[in-house]
Amino acid sequence: MFTPLLWSLLATFLFYDAQAASAAQWRGRSIYQVIVDRYALPSGSDLTLCDPSEQTWCGGTWNTLRENLDHIQNAGFTAVWISPVQQNWQGKRTPYGDPYHGYWIQDSTQLNERFGTADDLMALSEEIHRRDMYLMVDVVVNDVMALSTDPDYSIYMFKDSSYYHSYCPVDYSNTTSEQICWLGDFNVTLPDLDTTNPTVISGYSSWISELVSTYRIDGLRIDAAKHVDPAFWPAFCGAADVFCIGEVFGGLDVEDCAEWQGDVLDSVLNYPMYTALTQAFQIPGPLNISALTDTLSQSKQLYKDTTVLGNFLENQDLPRWAAGSVDVQTLYNAMTFNFMSDGIPICYYGQEMGFRGAGDPLNREPLWTSNYTITPTYQFIQQLNQFRNYLVNSTANISTPWTTAETQVLTTSQYGIAFMKGDVITILTNIGSPPQNNTHIAVQTPYERNTALTNVLTCEQWVVGSQALLKCNTL
Ligand SMILES: *[C@@H]1O[C@H](CO)[C@@H](O)[C@H](O)[C@H]1NC(C)=O
Ligand SMILES: *[C@@H]1O[C@H](CO)[C@@H](O)[C@H](O)[C@H]1NC(C)=O
Ligand SMILES: *[C@@H]1O[C@H](CO)[C@@H](O)[C@H](O)[C@H]1NC(C)=O
Ligand SMILES: *[C@@H]1O[C@H](CO)[C@@H](O)[C@H](O)[C@H]1NC(C)=O
Ligand SMILES: *[C@@H]1O[C@H](CO)[C@@H](O)[C@H](O)[C@H]1NC(C)=O
Ligand SMILES: *[C@@H]1O[C@H](CO)[C@@H](O)[C@H](O)[C@H]1NC(C)=O
Ligand SMILES: *[C@@H]1O[C@H](CO)[C@@H](O)[C@H](O)[C@H]1NC(C)=O
Repeated sequence: MFTPLLWSLLATFLFYDAQAASAAQWRGRSIYQVIVDRYALPSGSDLTLCDPSEQTWCGGTWNTLRENLDHIQNAGFTAVWISPVQQNWQGKRTPYGDPYHGYWIQDSTQLNERFGTADDLMALSEEIHRRDMYLMVDVVVNDVMALSTDPDYSIYMFKDSSYYHSYCPVDYSNTTSEQICWLGDFNVTLPDLDTTNPTVISGYSSWISELVSTYRIDGLRIDAAKHVDPAFWPAFCGAADVFCIGEVFGGLDVEDCAEWQGDVLDSVLNYPMYTALTQAFQIPGPLNISALTDTLSQSKQLYKDTTVLGNFLENQDLPRWAAGSVDVQTLYNAMTFNFMSDGIPICYYGQEMGFRGAGDPLNREPLWTSNYTITPTYQFIQQLNQFRNYLVNSTANISTPWTTAETQVLTTSQYGIAFMKGDVITILTNIGSPPQNNTHIAVQTPYERNTALTNVLTCEQWVVGSQALLKCNTL
């Protein structure tokens, strides 16, 4: 009796060991997002030749990313999200340039040779894991790329028009249309896979299962998730057997975003909170703290699990924070919100450098022009990561780990917000620079009078009841 039980336990452990990371494991991570083409060049390259407005390849590869992971790890990140690895459009240049970003899929069964070989991708994965970080890969399955509405389907993974929806332009007020019509326009069409077709479902399932196990991928970021019928995702992510976080592009509407989490996907990128943060903090802007508090309370009601949402301020589709806000203090406040409230913080490469590119393609700057300088923003991110990693690690085995403790709002005013998660109180203002003594946020804590608190960013101590916390003005 004993031996079979032991063996079955062992087998279970081996199985879990071989399995890549789950939502519970991702909850404590923090993610650095990379566009592979723009992260690093081989040593000795001319660093001056990359102009994002030219929309062409600048020369970054999986190898050059692997050789420059210190920049990410030293900032305290514990996961790297890389742009898609699937083969991209091999045809002529388009009015929107070349597929340097990786999102214009041709044959998914092949890797994108622009970024390296299978061995290079394997070496990147191994190096990321050697550093105790997780690898997240961006995947595009909603569509392939073409230059017309009548492409030659033999070049794609699914080689017959019967595997695709027929052309129609997306009507964003109609959910069916969002799911079956084609993204893109007549310059670059994006033929839409019929993800209800059993051959497409089984083909994609085998493909993702093999990709994940071959390259030991720990999680997937799913492009255009809301443009696919929801029933497709449980089969696909089940086959992948890793954490799946979907792109559900949108504004403040929490309901529209939240319906994709739970039965459909493990998690979603938190577009409503991003929008709220821009409205609460950016200068110039409406400085509307209510947008933030409303989104927080709706999030609690509507998401299945706020603690695994992807919290971001920038990405490859959005203007850089600094393109919308002149004051770096607003970035610090909004980033602190993302690190200290529920969810997984994500920084887009270059955010640590204060890049200010407006929308696509200007928000895909080469990182190397920064010389990977340790900027004040980089150091600030280091502090946030260090503190959050400490909270994650040190509370991992208690009954309510910090990661799953629910964010509780303590105080709000038109000038800011104070909230608590676990034993950490975060006070944020939208007053920007220069620092001022702001008496408009009277923070009520659950702590007794005279309890000593420490400002983790400055190491200063304060005492509950002394009103000294009001000094904590810029964060
Ligand atoms: C929504 O879009 C679908 C697909 O294009 C179309 O068949 C349907 O008629 C549309 N519904 C409405 C109400 O417009
Ligand atoms: C195609 O691209 C050109 C050049 O960028 C642009 O002027 C035009 O509006 C685009 N056409 C469509 C249908 O979007
Ligand atoms: C602030 O945001 C709230 C919630 O989104 C909205 O109802 C309100 O109209 C906004 N106020 C301003 C001044 O923009
Ligand atoms: C990076 O180094 C080059 C060459 O030394 C220099 O010209 C450039 O100003 C530096 N850029 C930054 C952002 O430090
Ligand atoms: C947290 O724990 C992991 C795993 O033991 C370790 O790799 C990491 O360095 C720790 N991080 C911090 C900030 O202590
Ligand atoms: C939590 O438990 C894990 C697994 O037993 C152990 O490796 C880790 O050191 C513990 N962490 C702390 C902070 O006690
Ligand atoms: C804020 O008030 C403290 C104590 O009164 C004072 O020492 C400090 O200089 C003030 N700071 C600013 C930026 O006004």
